[in-house]
Amino acid sequence: MNPVPAPLTLADPQVFQCPYPLYERLRAEAPVYLDPVIGLYLVTGAAEMKEVLHNHVDYSSVPDTRIMAFYSNAPEILELYEKHGGWAPMSTLVTSDPPEHRRYRALVEKAVGASNVRQLRESVTKIINELIDDFIDEPKVDLQKMVSLRLPVFVIGDMLGMPRELKDTLQAMPEATTQLADASLLSPQQIVEGHLTLIRGQKVFHEYIERYRAAPENNLLSNLVHARLDTGEFLSEREIHSVIQALLVGGNDTTPGAIGNSMVILARDAALQQKLRANPSLIANFAEESMRLESPVQGLFRRTTRQMVLGGVTIPEGATLAMRYAAANRDEKVFEHPTELDLERKGIRNHFAFGGGIHYCVGNILARMELTVAVEELLRRMDNIVMDPPDFNVTYLPKIVVRNPESIPVTFTKRV
Ligand code: HEM
Repeated sequence: MNPVPAPLTLADPQVFQCPYPLYERLRAEAPVYLDPVIGLYLVTGAAEMKEVLHNHVDYSSVPDTRIMAFYSNAPEILELYEKHGGWAPMSTLVTSDPPEHRRYRALVEKAVGASNVRQLRESVTKIINELIDDFIDEPKVDLQKMVSLRLPVFVIGDMLGMPRELKDTLQAMPEATTQLADASLLSPQQIVEGHLTLIRGQKVFHEYIERYRAAPENNLLSNLVHARLDTGEFLSEREIHSVIQALLVGGNDTTPGAIGNSMVILARDAALQQKLRANPSLIANFAEESMRLESPVQGLFRRTTRQMVLGGVTIPEGATLAMRYAAANRDEKVFEHPTELDLERKGIRNHFAFGGGIHYCVGNILARMELTVAVEELLRRMDNIVMDPPDFNVTYLPKIVVRNPESIPVTFTKRV
């Protein structure tokens, strides 16, 4: 008797390590596919992706709280926030629809917009160089631990006006949030622990909210405390915590993947390192291709507000779609030779790594700058970056939303 074939599912340990064969098969056979294990519709084709992202009326961003548990309104979770003095999650940015969405987005758009980001470039360059100073005289380093995980935390922390000593809190909160976004993989106890981490973080932020309320400063948190919505009202503290959470996730559990995935590509390709060192103006294009090929946010969710037909598949009202940006980014119908890194690709920024439509990553200018500056400085100060050992098998954290290498051990020589 033939063995029953294993179902195609995202929740397969092998898929976390390398999702691309699954994506390729689904794009070819079923670009909209009901995952029988996690019960979500996986969207992998670029055309279907666009259709969903540009229709926020039929495909809502307000999630099913059983799936994105960080936004849970289950009575036991609300009680937990009440009991421990936290601020229960609510929908502001990534988990909201218009008109609320527009209101909150307008508040952060300016802070992470082009002109502010231009001014931040110098301080990001300084931070990355301080991080490099910490290991440059050693013969080897774990780049994920020493660079990728640290740079974005310091950048967003500085922007928010939070001291560097709080980096563990700034890191723990977004990690817990993206973990809670994979609720189909978690036990009830893990869900409670995730929320307790968020509550602990909120209490740390509460102190700073109070401080900036009393004495405003020129930073993002202080600006949020004193900002008025288009209704003329100040944000409630609950709203402020929700916006902070969106910014922390945006900044801290995504950019590490972008830097880490880029470093993995470079550590395996000496010729590419040389090419970029010789011509640093190509690094911005490298950053785009790296995010297309190894998308740090593999996917996010949408929920149908009525029965829809997508890619020929009938999807009932209230169903959750797992939008696999990383899969659409390799769709051969849109990208020529999609698995190759092509620094001269036409329309090189037109990928799905930052999503699309009204929720297109509000931090994309900042993220692009951080990644470009990180690669520029690492290549400027380090030669011959090679995996240690050379055949080191990079493993990835088992998360549905983000793709982050667990570690990137490399050897290198110091450039003088
Ligand atoms: C390489 C790094 C980054 C990647 C790959 C990334 C990716 C994304 C993606 C795919 C979305 C769309 C969400 C959706 O479809 O529902 C998004 C939204 C968002 N991102 Fe980023 N992001 C990055 C960096 C950042 C940074 C640095 C910030 C913070 C300053 C940030 C803040 C946000 C926020 C607040 C949203 C929600 C926007 C909205 O709903 O209108 N992101 N990001």
